[in-house]
Amino acid sequence: MRQLYSMDGPMAGNNNDDTERYLKLRACIENLSRNPGADIVRYGWRRKDVISLGQGEGDAPTPDFIIKAAEKALASGKTFYAPVLGHPEARQEVSDYYARIYGLQVPTQRIFMTSSGTTAMHLALTAILDEGDEVIAVTPIWRNLLAAVELAQGRITEVALRDEAGQWRLDLEELIASCTPKTKAILIATPSNPTGWVMKQPEMTALLEFARKKGIWIISDEVYGRIVYDGTRAPSFLDVAEPGDRLFTVNSFSKAWAMTGWRLGWLVGPADAEEGIRDIALYNTMGPPSFTQYAAIEALRSGEPFIKQQLDLWRGNREYVFERFAQNGRIEGAPPEAAFYAFFRIKDEQDCLGFAKRLIDEASLSLAPGCAFGKVGHGYIRLCFAVSRPRLDEALGRLEQIIK
Ligand SMILES: Cc1ncc(COP(=O)(O)O)c(C=O)c1O
Repeated sequence: MRQLYSMDGPMAGNNNDDTERYLKLRACIENLSRNPGADIVRYGWRRKDVISLGQGEGDAPTPDFIIKAAEKALASGKTFYAPVLGHPEARQEVSDYYARIYGLQVPTQRIFMTSSGTTAMHLALTAILDEGDEVIAVTPIWRNLLAAVELAQGRITEVALRDEAGQWRLDLEELIASCTPKTKAILIATPSNPTGWVMKQPEMTALLEFARKKGIWIISDEVYGRIVYDGTRAPSFLDVAEPGDRLFTVNSFSKAWAMTGWRLGWLVGPADAEEGIRDIALYNTMGPPSFTQYAAIEALRSGEPFIKQQLDLWRGNREYVFERFAQNGRIEGAPPEAAFYAFFRIKDEQDCLGFAKRLIDEASLSLAPGCAFGKVGHGYIRLCFAVSRPRLDEALGRLEQIIK
């Protein structure tokens, strides 16, 4: 049974009296898989001196021009209920952004503003999953996406990317062969958190063709679509899809615009999904916050220099991390194509959860255990390098104290 009164999870070793009190929740909640990454983050919070590179965010604050736009919206009274699928201006701005950056025509009727990429994922899954439907997930993948499927009462089958000397590859034939008559959707994060793997356009075309024939949905999380080290943006399923395809793409303001705490994202769906998504959003969050959408408009409109500046820093950090790793000799991994994570293995170290805990205890450094990202992630560690160089330097020094 789920322990409701202690939020510290199994790492805490906490047996105080209130752990005696239990409530029984719905089976799908009782059976939700744990998130060892979140457990480790909480474990790290217990100590003041911990450097955390275990979460998926940079350390740069949201830039001023975005904050000013929110302040202006607040001051001008944008504090009331807003349209459930977002302000028309915000939907239009996302559409303009796709035209400008992706060269794609995406009409506003297909764009739904959401209170986070996570919410966009939940809306998409709620729209299509019936209890027991199978979802094929390409792993390693951000654990919350798998848990979102569990919450929607779907069943997950993991199809693992292959680690070829630190370069992650998809076996498309294996992915296709894993689909069964019960498969409702294929879930992909491209670029991927934690590996930085990017699905190639021909792979997207081939998978979409297969999915079309079988009536299978594709849900593509493209939250890291702008965090690429070569070119302006990663391929999108929107590049190869028809407007009526069974495709949802999930996106977010969190990463590229340094807005993790704002909780704002968007979903692009098929042309005729608008009504259904509106109903789900209406009965769920009733739409994203109002005034923050004006900040998001400004982010899209004026954010390119900021994105470039961040990417320049992260590109340098990426090289620096892997140079230091190469000097260490016990760390196995390769620089990612995209996103801002180093996902690596340590020679003779299999227990990534135990290792992540030891790093906090002995070196005051919090990194994410690979087992948080699906079965294939066991034994790996994820480090977010989207931070200032001094902080990264200090963190690497602490890591090297433990991996000698
Ligand atoms: C692949 C992926 N999708 C979605 C999110 C969350 O986005 P948001 O902050 O908009 O909920 C993350 C956060 O780490 C992520 O890695």
